[in-house]
Amino acid sequence: DEAPMLYTGELLGNKNGPIFDIAVDPLEGTNFAANNLPGAISVIAIAEKGNLFNAPETYMDKIATGKIESGLVDLDYSIKKNISNLADFMNKDISLITACILDRPRHKEIIKELKMLGVKIKLITDGDVLGALYVSDPKYNVDIFLGIGGGPEGVLAASALDAYDCHFQGRFIFDNDNDISDAKKMGITDLNKKYELKEIVKGDSIFCASGITNSDVLLGIDINDKNYTCETFVTHKNSSYKEIVKRTAPIIEWFLFQVRNG
Ligand code: FBP
Repeated sequence: DEAPMLYTGELLGNKNGPIFDIAVDPLEGTNFAANNLPGAISVIAIAEKGNLFNAPETYMDKIATGKIESGLVDLDYSIKKNISNLADFMNKDISLITACILDRPRHKEIIKELKMLGVKIKLITDGDVLGALYVSDPKYNVDIFLGIGGGPEGVLAASALDAYDCHFQGRFIFDNDNDISDAKKMGITDLNKKYELKEIVKGDSIFCASGITNSDVLLGIDINDKNYTCETFVTHKNSSYKEIVKRTAPIIEWFLFQVRNG
């Protein structure tokens, strides 16, 4: 966004110690937070230097499922082929498959096709990092996430799914001269390239999402007198660590102070 800090390429820290790449979305689900609706989170992904894909600020066509055999679900397949391959693999009837997708006019055709196939649809109004994360665990009841959302959010989603060995593919959409020229400046030569998860996040990685408002995954910030507690969902790829931790967060106090003081 047009945030004054943490822009792409910004150097952060005191230059002592190991060097990491970070990808952040301090407020994923701005509308949710503004309207006190479920689903606003604050997200960071961390990997060793050079291991997080430097995503352009464009849209990305995404597809994600739980852990599946390779070649079963692909951005280049039709919706029908992806859904029936997934249903076969999961040994489920198509009518028991649930697809999560952003509720946007650009997805009209996909939604129509999903309905024709009899797939259950979980329409989300915003927040496709959480949308993609739903495929990581059967408790969220989402078998496939698909559709077009933010490119940087795609990197964050890939990082979240990496710890679960989930399937994720993304393809950036460059549909205007500005985006094409920015992509070229960033060294992207193949504008139609389909990125596999392992090309977006390499090696070891850490993903953290903190709840701002409540969601299916996390509780939002709990304000109790002067204590602000938040839940953070943390994954660490190499140690297979996946936990929801609860912490009192002084930064939240500072943030609320800033908000209250205009
Ligand atoms: P913000 O919180 O930055 O507004 O992003 C919300 C979001 O829904 C993302 O989760 C998603 O990737 C993107 O916006 C979709 O963009 P658009 O609203 O333009 O369809």
